[in-house]
Amino acid sequence: MSAKPAHTEAPKAIYLKDYAPPAWWVDTVDLHVTILDGYAEVTATLACRRNEAQRQDDLVLNGDELALQKVSLDGTLLPSSRYALDAETLTIRGPLPDRFALETLVRIEPDRNTQLSGLYKSADGCFTQCEAQGFRRITFFPDRPDVMARYTCTVEADAARFPQLLSNGNLVATGQGEAGRHWAKWQDPFAKPSYLFAMVAAKLDVLEDSFVTRSGRKVRCAVYVEPGRLDQCGHAMAALKKAMKWDEERFGLELDLDTYMIVAVGDFNMGAMENKGLNIFNTKYVLARPDTATDADYQAIDRVVAHEYFHNWTGNRVTCRDWFQLSLKEGLTVYRDEQFGEDMHSRAVTRIQDVRGLRAGQFPEDAGPMAHPIRPASYAEINNFYTATVYQKGAQVIRMIETLIGRDMFRAGMDLYFARHDGHAVTCEDFVQAMQDASGVDLTQFRRWYSRAGTPRLKAAGHYDAAAKRYSLTLTQTLAPTAYEARLAEAGIASDNGPLHIPVAVGLVLPNGTDAVPTTVLSLTETTQTFHFDDIAGAPVASLLRGYSAPVQLDFQQGDDELPHLMAHDSDAFNRWEAGQRLATRALLAGIAAGGNGVDWIPPALVAACARIVADASAQRIDPAFAAEALVLPPEQVLAEEVAAQGKTIDPDAIHRARQQLRRHLATSLFAAFDTLWQALAPTGPYAPEGGQIGRRALRNACLAYLAEADEQAALPRLMKQFEQGGNMTDVGAALGILANLDLPERQTALDAFYAKWQGEALVVDKWLNVQATSRLDGTTARVRALMQHPAFDLRNPNNVYALVRAFCAANPRHFHAADGSGYALAADVVVELQANNPQVASRIARTFDRWRQFDAGRQAHARAALERIRDQPGLARDVAEVVGNALR
Ligand code: PHE
Ligand code: ZN
Repeated sequence: MSAKPAHTEAPKAIYLKDYAPPAWWVDTVDLHVTILDGYAEVTATLACRRNEAQRQDDLVLNGDELALQKVSLDGTLLPSSRYALDAETLTIRGPLPDRFALETLVRIEPDRNTQLSGLYKSADGCFTQCEAQGFRRITFFPDRPDVMARYTCTVEADAARFPQLLSNGNLVATGQGEAGRHWAKWQDPFAKPSYLFAMVAAKLDVLEDSFVTRSGRKVRCAVYVEPGRLDQCGHAMAALKKAMKWDEERFGLELDLDTYMIVAVGDFNMGAMENKGLNIFNTKYVLARPDTATDADYQAIDRVVAHEYFHNWTGNRVTCRDWFQLSLKEGLTVYRDEQFGEDMHSRAVTRIQDVRGLRAGQFPEDAGPMAHPIRPASYAEINNFYTATVYQKGAQVIRMIETLIGRDMFRAGMDLYFARHDGHAVTCEDFVQAMQDASGVDLTQFRRWYSRAGTPRLKAAGHYDAAAKRYSLTLTQTLAPTAYEARLAEAGIASDNGPLHIPVAVGLVLPNGTDAVPTTVLSLTETTQTFHFDDIAGAPVASLLRGYSAPVQLDFQQGDDELPHLMAHDSDAFNRWEAGQRLATRALLAGIAAGGNGVDWIPPALVAACARIVADASAQRIDPAFAAEALVLPPEQVLAEEVAAQGKTIDPDAIHRARQQLRRHLATSLFAAFDTLWQALAPTGPYAPEGGQIGRRALRNACLAYLAEADEQAALPRLMKQFEQGGNMTDVGAALGILANLDLPERQTALDAFYAKWQGEALVVDKWLNVQATSRLDGTTARVRALMQHPAFDLRNPNNVYALVRAFCAANPRHFHAADGSGYALAADVVVELQANNPQVASRIARTFDRWRQFDAGRQAHARAALERIRDQPGLARDVAEVVGNALR
């Protein structure tokens, strides 16, 4: 017999085209959850009703790792002949009455639930996570979002260990039991899909506040955190109230509940979860104090709190018919949190950051083996589709609708969407139809954005006819088939390949720096189209895709004099930034082609452009936050995609070298200017995570990083002083991040001191792991391995894994893609170990292999070996099997 383990079967795909409504509805759910030592008992009473349109004799319920104790129907215990149980379902055999009450009793083991899906233990309590398919790990249920029911939930537990007992909706009764036990009964007035169920039994402190809605109702707001951390919840509470107000003002949407609760938990796979009235959050997006959290953390908290709050309407009141429609709620809600961010902070800087995230995270996905449209036609494991595509690209698709129909019509479309679909589980098509009907704009062709994968390329060519005073712009769109189309073809599904409807916002900047025309949104609907602008006084510099009006790659040859002109004069701030990025990218691509060596590929125009930004910032002519963004060179991963898009092999060392060369060249050329600006930006008052302060700190720290790039020894005293006396985590963390890249003894001194001071604050320890994982120094891979054995690291804690391992794989390309395969081996070791405990997190690590075929043969051989080692694990989790299977396909 062969000793080679038979590798796991490829996971089975499910298809959107196979959707059928449920055979049974569930009108009400009455849950009793009893938390005992080492296990919990769950009794569920489901009021079931036949869906006449979908007649089926049997009732099939989902269940996962549930120990069934008994089943009864209308009060009568069912004999085993009346039901069938397998690893994934409980089938109640028909014939069944049209309406009946089904009661089940199951045992579950929250303490052993390492997947963090369903009911699980973390620190001082029990918490739930039900999206997408976690409710079936709590009780037997038709666990699909189109089954919407009204829930009551009674939680019973030991009063001393679990003083807080929470669930969705309103608290309707409480009581004491025997032997120090207590219970609380909650009732949710709104029907909801099972994925929005939540409950908590834990020892937590609570911060309370209230909000008066625009109709005058007073709502109780509460943030629950691990005991002793109330001083870290104020910002989350403030963010919640800002979000409530904003949604009333911008979309006329008011909170529909009397109580809105947020619970923070340290073990959580994702960022946060929008359970009705009881959001459960990763501590990372709740806890903040000036000395523990950075400006970026504060802003992320604003965004995630708002995001989950906005889901109350876009996701909860109107939910998804099936999981293929995930972007219906996620794309739309990210769009809403992006808009909120733009209104709360600098509009341009927020947009820049969001677009940078899209390019670094979504473009590689669209070009890799897991490519999919925002509404995929198939998947094997739904947890693998909480992606940058569904979220970030989904948000850009919504934004394009707004761009095409205008802001007022978009609002009218939202109103119509809620008028039509409130309380229902619907599709992306329903959303687009509401936008079309409200605006009268035909979105037929636009709908292709929902079914096409890949990042379109937009080729532009401009021509100015001086005699006719006419500027002509020819736009051509292309979108090559991706891995997605190949997967569909294998399944016999045809894909559509017509042109997309792309809104291209255009400006024409005259030689004197003024706009020749107001920003004009062109509708590109054909493969190639030419647009004319008349009465243009002089040869303009075209400013395309203002505000990044469409998620495409722009191919537009503009000269080294045109881009600086846009940097200086474009009335669109995003495109001022973009012009700088394009100038830098072009130079870097030349540098990469030269192996990353030397500096003769660096155009003087680029150095002059940076000098101008620094000078403008020193003279306070531009927003410091904007200047800080403008001084960040394109990230290595984004450059890698540019190289790949040219059909070339990615050389991560050359990319790293070129980017470093350019940073060092700018740092030495502009040393004095950086130094002056750094001095000028010294803090003037006490720290607050707001307004101009954030930008000043960002810019000052960018200057410090450049100074360290030019002259480590000169920068060192400043770095150490800021590290020791910075007073806030933004400055201290920035200093530590710079030090972590310097091969000096002070590096270790600082890291040791930081750990000694912060070992009791899990989120700060994650920062300590993160700066080491992303260090460019030689030996980083070995240090990451060593840190995995450190007492501060626990492989079962997702935040630890993301801070150390995922950061290493996704944000340290030179070391992850090391030619000797050591980075790949590390990642594979983690995936293999983790997949048995937490498939979702393991799968996210496995995704970092996505682009492996873009590298040279030697690296590919190492990556393939690592992927095959994962694939050949006996009993490999479906999540990981899908990712690795697609990568090797
Ligand atoms: N729905 C959550 C959010 O966006 C994300 C999430 C998905 C959380 C799955 C947990 C599990 O906002
Ligand atoms: Zn969401």
